[in-house]
Amino acid sequence: MVVFQSGFAANAGTVAAVLTKDDVVISDELNHASIIDGARLSRAAIKVFPHKDVDAARKILTDLPAGQRKLLITDGVFSMDGDLGALPELCALAEEFGCIMMVDDAHASGVFGSNGRGTIDHFGMHGRVDIQVGTLSKAIGALGGYVAGSTDADRVPVSPRAPVLCSRRRIRRRSRPRASRRSTSSSRSRRSSSGCGTTRASSRRA
Ligand SMILES: Cc1ncc(COP(=O)(O)O)c(C=O)c1O
Repeated sequence: MVVFQSGFAANAGTVAAVLTKDDVVISDELNHASIIDGARLSRAAIKVFPHKDVDAARKILTDLPAGQRKLLITDGVFSMDGDLGALPELCALAEEFGCIMMVDDAHASGVFGSNGRGTIDHFGMHGRVDIQVGTLSKAIGALGGYVAGSTDADRVPVSPRAPVLCSRRRIRRRSRPRASRRSTSSSRSRRSSSGCGTTRASSRRA
């Protein structure tokens, strides 16, 4: 779990941190502006499919090179019209085409699923979504945003550019006793390869 200053920063920061200019994002036309900003920041190619049109998303994916890294992204609940995202169909598509699957659950966290876990829980998509974003500023009634995601660094590599406020892993490292904090060469190289050392191995799949 990684915490950001807002849901907007969580979406924009995560998309920009996961994608590079060589990648492609496949995005529902009604996805939130923060996703669009993140995609633009990343300089990845942006392919937009009509709202909830899974067949159109499939057509886009079919036309892309198999080896290109792809992020398939949908809102869990769309802020524009209140629709639920087509999670089961899009997760199946992501698995078929080897996409990183991301869900923006800003309007679902605290509302849908058991104990407000969001649309991934609502649809029973556990283990099939790589990245789940939520906000603390809607149902939770505070301020901030969070990202929960896969521990699979090969599938979801993260650049050190993410505008992260804090992460579970960083908090844990700082709270270790001084004597055990001495770096080994392997922990030093792990830190330098993961940049801010936050999101690569932070939590279970959403
Ligand atoms: C779908 C969606 N995602 C993300 C956000 C951004 O959340 P925040 O208001 O916490 O920045 C919003 C805000 O309205 C939203 O509707």
